[in-house]
Amino acid sequence: MDPRGFWGKSASPWLCGFLLFAACLGFYSNIFNLIPGWGQRRESESDRDSHLDPCRVPKVPRMLYPNVQLLNPMRADVLVLTPWFAPIVWEGVFDSAILDAQFRNTTIGLTVFAIKKYVVFLELFLQTAEKHFMVGHRVIYYVFTDRPADVPRVPLAEGRQVVVLEVRNYARWQEVSMHRMEMISNFSQQRFLHEVDYLVCMDVDMKFCDHVGVEILSPLFGTLHPGFYGAAREAFTYERRPQSQAYIPRDEGDFYYAGGFFGGSVVEVLQLTTACHQAMVVDQANGLEAVWHDESHLNKYLLYHKPTKVLSPEYLWDEQMQQRPPFLRKLRYVAVPKNHAEIRQ
Ligand SMILES: *[C@@H]1O[C@H](CO)[C@@H](O)[C@H](O)[C@H]1NC(C)=O
Ligand SMILES: *[C@@H]1O[C@H](CO)[C@@H](O)[C@H](O)[C@H]1NC(C)=O
Repeated sequence: MDPRGFWGKSASPWLCGFLLFAACLGFYSNIFNLIPGWGQRRESESDRDSHLDPCRVPKVPRMLYPNVQLLNPMRADVLVLTPWFAPIVWEGVFDSAILDAQFRNTTIGLTVFAIKKYVVFLELFLQTAEKHFMVGHRVIYYVFTDRPADVPRVPLAEGRQVVVLEVRNYARWQEVSMHRMEMISNFSQQRFLHEVDYLVCMDVDMKFCDHVGVEILSPLFGTLHPGFYGAAREAFTYERRPQSQAYIPRDEGDFYYAGGFFGGSVVEVLQLTTACHQAMVVDQANGLEAVWHDESHLNKYLLYHKPTKVLSPEYLWDEQMQQRPPFLRKLRYVAVPKNHAEIRQ
């Protein structure tokens, strides 16, 4: 090879020509950005990605909102930050106007499983989601069901759609619950990666009672289980048999997360659901089933992949299980009373 390499004499005219060409391209693309309309496509595409990339910051327009005060914390009665600096989302700590601007043009996929008799919950779930879930944003409801003909037609606002995904059922409700991880994992690879920015995975036997918006979105989020928010880690109902892939020793654990509400970017949800599914396959081969099924595996995953946001029990409540404590200013997503034996058979 010529020791002068690329910078050698023979390369110079080519190089000068190329640099001039590149400079012109750069100049014109900047000029286009100054002409209204011309640069918009470029700009919006980079904006579109920035909320998904923790190293990028989305641009927001001029907005008028009350100023926060450093010595006047928005909530003094509850923990609002984990020790790994993930926000814990409570009423009073966020401003939806700012967040809506940061997450504009985001598409959110909501997965929900309506297998066997659980289809009866879909109507109320979808109706209340239209009132409270990600209002003003693009939403695709992915309804997994073995009874596509029974999916109700609920009127949807613009930019929102229901996609029915026909899947098989399983004999035991525990199996139905556990196979959700596998199905979300499979469909994430096949289509969710190409169709939405975030995935929100929720239980169907629930209704929305108040705002659930983009404040929940983050690369990986989990929701505190209403039965254990005040409990010590020793009392969490983690899987305690060391033979199980979901095993968590008594001296470990941050929170007890609910199986009925988690999510994140599609890539992170794909990782989570694939890992949980694989762990369940290993357990099954060893003749084991974790004490709380997919929820046990979710808790194991979130112990070693710390969520980047944690949703307070406002985001998952059961009025039959617990009386509402005073620090819960809102109940956003609550259990619909049901006859377990009747629905699960
Ligand atoms: C919004 O996102 C879509 C892709 O989902 C993109 O094609 C479009 O240019 C974006 N629009 C704006 C205004 O950012
Ligand atoms: C998920 O995908 C794998 C690999 O393609 C397949 O073997 C499996 O049956 C699928 N699972 C479900 C529940 O569809």
